[in-house]
Amino acid sequence: MTLMNSAQWIDVMNEKDLLQGTGKKVVYKGNEIAVFKAMNGDVFAMENKCPHKGWGIVDGMISGKHVYCPMHDRKINMDSGLVEKPDTGCVQTFQTEVSNGKIRIAFPIT
Ligand code: FES
Repeated sequence: MTLMNSAQWIDVMNEKDLLQGTGKKVVYKGNEIAVFKAMNGDVFAMENKCPHKGWGIVDGMISGKHVYCPMHDRKINMDSGLVEKPDTGCVQTFQTEVSNGKIRIAFPIT
């Protein structure tokens, strides 16, 4: 997702509470967000909804910058949100940062 004019940075969890290679779900304004930490420590956030059939992706297997949907194995780039070929689709992503031990997500102001 491209940030439009402005965003609101929200603390969503302690960085130490998200283990490498795992994801956790948070809810913001009624929307489920999947927060992932890759094995190299990079943190990603995206809508917790696979573009294929809408299942949650938070429990998917992480490999590099990708998460595999646990339902039918679509490979989703956690940075861009794009589903890798030959499949198609895109998941909304959000900018993240780690600051003072907290994972923060930039949610667009609507
Ligand atoms: S619901 Fe994710 S691949 Fe089918």
